[in-house]
Order: sequence, then C-alpha cells, then structure tokens
Amino acid sequence: MGDGPLQGRHVVVTSGPTHEPIDPVRYIANRSSGAQGTALARALRDLGARVTFVTGPASVPPPGGVEVVQIETARQMLDAVKTALPADAVICAAAVADWRVANASGSKMKKDGSGKAPALDFAENPDILATISQMKKGRPALVVGFAAETDDVVAHATTKRERKHCDWIVANDVRPATGIMGGTENAVTLISETGAEEWPRLPKDEVARGLAARIAAALGAGG
Ligand code: C5P
Repeated sequence: MGDGPLQGRHVVVTSGPTHEPIDPVRYIANRSSGAQGTALARALRDLGARVTFVTGPASVPPPGGVEVVQIETARQMLDAVKTALPADAVICAAAVADWRVANASGSKMKKDGSGKAPALDFAENPDILATISQMKKGRPALVVGFAAETDDVVAHATTKRERKHCDWIVANDVRPATGIMGGTENAVTLISETGAEEWPRLPKDEVARGLAARIAAALGAGG
C-alpha cells in the first residue's frame, strides 16, 4: 500500500494460465506468460491499491508488495477470487482454460499394450469473469476482462462484454504477425458501455499504467 489515488482500495487481479490435470503428472495448459496481468498488478500497487494477485503457474515472477495467491485450476482460481472479496475492482487478466478433463485419473495413466489411446472427456470450467460480473450481492464496482482476438477484434470484444456482463473489456489483436502474444508490447482497445477507444501500441508496462490510471478514475479515486 502506498499513498496514491488507490490507497484504501482493494483490487483483485487474475493472471497467468491455468493447469487442468489429466492425471497426477500431466496437465492441459496454454501459453499465457502472465506478463500483462503482472504488469497491471504492479501498476495498481504503485497507485496505492491493496492488490490480491491470483495467479496460475506463470512464467514471469509475481510482483512484490501484493498478496499472491497461487492456484492451478480454473475452479481453484474462482474460489480464490471469491475468498478475496470484497473488492472495489476485479480485473480478470488470466488465460483460463475453458475446459477441464472430467475423467482425470487419480493415478498415472499407463499404456496398456493394446495400442489404443485413452479418451479424455471434457467438462466446462466456470467463467470467473462472468460469475463475478453477475454477482447479485457485493458485486465489485468495476469488473474488467481481457479479450485476445484474431479477427474483428472490436466486434467480438463488444459482444463478449455484453455476454459476460463486465464493465470493460480490454481487447487485443493476437494474430501471430502482431508479435503481441509472448512479446513485450501490446496494442489494446478499451471497450466500455460508451464505446471503443483504440490505444497506440505501447510496452505492456505502459498499457498497465494507463489502465491503472483509468481504473483509479472510474473508482472516483482521481489518477
Ligand atoms: O471468452 P474468453 O476466454 O475469450 O474471455 C476472456 C476473458 O474472460 C478474460 O478476461 C478471462 O480472464 C476471462 N475468463 C474467466 N474465466 C473463464 C474464461 C475466461 O475469467 N473460464
């Protein structure tokens, strides 16, 4: 906590990928590094917020000066976010697995010599962003999601904002040619009820600082 415009405010940030077990040694994951979520948590901390950082197994270290809650699965992430409430804002920057393995094995799966591959059944994971956005009691004043899109970025992200009932969607174009996924820069469009605002391509740290300032302003905390 510092003495910036977010002093006394509590912000929960989700970040990184989730890991969904197949058996005790194998899992399904994705390539999220956690870089943008980590930068955002740092920027919010620097504005004085108390930050709870709920992170999957990311490839960048979590920032100092925040409360770090390490989880692996989407369901653990949802539980951790709910446990962290109440909050003034929840920012869902994690790349959550949409599906988990419904028939995960309690012991290591082995080849049985038949040459037949095992079949995995999938079950849908809870949507953390949509769940928090639709809380009937104690909904945070500001709920923000991210949308990584490869085409029609604004149209898809606008639909996503309405479907998930969050306040803002931070949309970005992750076509491989942009080099954004896993890179150090991001080009985002901030989508709210009032429209879409395209930001220039900036280092992820600067995108984070810009978003943190906007979050502070939205919470009526100046900044
Ligand atoms: O639908 P899509 O996965 O593209 O939505 C992305 C946004 O939703 C991100 O903010 C992500 O953190 C959030 N999300 C979530 N829980 C899920 C899936 C996505 O919080 N199960």
